[in-house]
Amino acid sequence: METDVQLQLDAFEVTLRDIAVVGIDQLHALSVAVGWPHRESDWRMLLDLGRGIAAVDEIGRVVGSVMWFRYAPDFVKVGMLITSPRLQEQGAGRWLMQRVHELNKGSVFGLTATRAARRLYRSLGYGHEQKVLQCQGRAVVPADVRAVVAGSLRPVRPADHDALLDLDRAAVGCDRSAMFRRLLPLSTGHVLVRNGETVAFALCRQFGRGHVIGPVIAATEEDAIAVAMPHVEAHAGGFLRADTPAANAAFTGFLAAAGMQVHDTVTSMGLGRAPFRPASADGPRRMALASHTLG
Ligand SMILES: CC(C)(COP(=O)(O)OP(=O)(O)OC[C@H]1O[C@@H](n2cnc3c(N)ncnc32)[C@H](O)[C@@H]1OP(=O)(O)O)[C@@H](O)C(=O)NCCC(=O)NCCS
Repeated sequence: METDVQLQLDAFEVTLRDIAVVGIDQLHALSVAVGWPHRESDWRMLLDLGRGIAAVDEIGRVVGSVMWFRYAPDFVKVGMLITSPRLQEQGAGRWLMQRVHELNKGSVFGLTATRAARRLYRSLGYGHEQKVLQCQGRAVVPADVRAVVAGSLRPVRPADHDALLDLDRAAVGCDRSAMFRRLLPLSTGHVLVRNGETVAFALCRQFGRGHVIGPVIAATEEDAIAVAMPHVEAHAGGFLRADTPAANAAFTGFLAAAGMQVHDTVTSMGLGRAPFRPASADGPRRMALASHTLG
């Protein structure tokens, strides 16, 4: 990747480097500096899955980052855009995004925007907004929620993996098999099987301060609650998080009853078209994201 691109900002000059060549400890320090919960192992997983660039100052400190994940020949998911607090509001965030667009010409782009970044993305042409709720807290097994759905609920087995990929592809409109290959060994999962067909699943893995439930893919919120419930039971008393499109009112209500209150609101956005397109309006859809970065 081109590494000699430089930007002169107010007091200092920054150079772009391939993110793969900078220290993971420096990337971790950058995300900690903006209050993000990622551990080094969360960064490691993302670095294994995607590509990215880091902005480095004159004495080798990482002061900015951005990554991208190619989910389809024509679709790129962007994430991990961070500029160090002392560098912000000088154009570095915009500059990093413009480099991502240049390096992936001809693609459609999707991302999950924090409040801090939404205006920047709008000014770069991003739209197709969908509100996403970051729900988190100390998990409790909700006393008054009983997920009574037809079918049988059981842990994910290796033989289920193709069915999970099919459900995910129907929900998001692209092939995230590389992401699943990386997530599945780190995750526990539950599937709902109805009439011999896998109709919903929920994965859960360690992330940040505790565990995150996601992705959850289902056609109805009742099915989503049924597959998510075993993860709440498994982590009762621990820190749990799930990120769900705000349109999922019943699922959000379930998360609140399970101790995961709305902590923040972010926005799923697309440049060129909606980032994720379910195959059918009443078929499988994203009930919980894999993560803000992965969508
Ligand atoms: C979001 C974030 C990446 C933006 O980075 P940044 O380096 O401040 O971005 P820019 O400077 O390019 O643009 C930010 C704003 O400053 C403005 N700006 C740009 N150059 C400027 C300058 N020379 N003087 C004053 N303001 C300027 C931009 O117009 C933009 O304004 P807007 O809010 O109206 O869009 C940064 O705030 C950050 O890391 N936040 C924490 C992590 C985060 O939320 N990341 C986003 C993940 S989706």
